[in-house]
Amino acid sequence: MQIFKKQKDLNLFLESEREKSNFIALVPTMGGLHDGHLSLVAKAKNLAEIVVVSIFVNPTQFARGEDFDDYPNTFENDKFLLESKKIDVLFIPSKEEIYPHGTESDYKVGAIGQILCGAFRPSHFDGVAQVVKRFFEIVKPNYAVFGEKDFQQLLIIKSLVKNLHLDIKIDSMPTQREHDGLAMSTRNQYLSDIDRERAPHFYSVLIATRDLILGGKAISEAREMATNSLSKSFEVEYFDVLNANNLTQIETKTSEIIIISAIRFGGTRLIDNLVFRRKNV
Ligand code: PAJ
Repeated sequence: MQIFKKQKDLNLFLESEREKSNFIALVPTMGGLHDGHLSLVAKAKNLAEIVVVSIFVNPTQFARGEDFDDYPNTFENDKFLLESKKIDVLFIPSKEEIYPHGTESDYKVGAIGQILCGAFRPSHFDGVAQVVKRFFEIVKPNYAVFGEKDFQQLLIIKSLVKNLHLDIKIDSMPTQREHDGLAMSTRNQYLSDIDRERAPHFYSVLIATRDLILGGKAISEAREMATNSLSKSFEVEYFDVLNANNLTQIETKTSEIIIISAIRFGGTRLIDNLVFRRKNV
């Protein structure tokens, strides 16, 4: 595994791989790697000859008061994990390398970045789009792989590729979970032992809500029951049941549904979602 800090060194290497007609797949991360990230790496290895993983804790997607300064740094372990997965390149740029002309962004995500997580983190998705766009410009991958756990992020990146007419295929992997159902997340490290024990309730409520809806319960009722149940243990930021294709309201004919939620407890913010199909509507 080669480790690059500078765009120009990375480009020299990637240029020579392109000359050999090798395809490049990119997996952007902020480090603190876990099996969720590694599932994206495995997918990337299936898609392309050369896999580039980036680790960059992007300041522009954190608002003041969020955890940018405390974001888990497990670099030695990350390096070990990626080495053992035999990836080709680890790219760890500095802030200056990513934002040589300052952090002003020229790409605005628009309405889809203002709902759900965006309503609670107003500039977050503009920052995500900005950094992903930079990584696309630098790496020029044929493929990029993202996780469905960050479903809104995934849709925003797909629309970025479409809006900018980029020749990059976006692929995704399902949410990887701990044995008790909790979605893997770098931020799970923040949970105290007691909160870690309570956290799987989040996913059980998503499953119960899906089962209620599939059993014929009205969505508004299922949603209210879920919010009441979650509110007993957590502070619910949002809990919504939406069209999984575009995160808009469900209509009678909508068959692909997403239950999507963010909660807070003990100072930690968790997000999760569940996508399912509804038949016979
Ligand atoms: P990060 O939280 O490090 O996540 C990197 C990638 O891993 C994202 O595509 C995310 O959806 C995926 N991922 C995280 N947890 C997962 C899980 N349990 N199962 C499957 N995939 C999972 O998301 C970011 O970083 C940043 O916003 C980034 C895209 C790198 C831009 O800075």
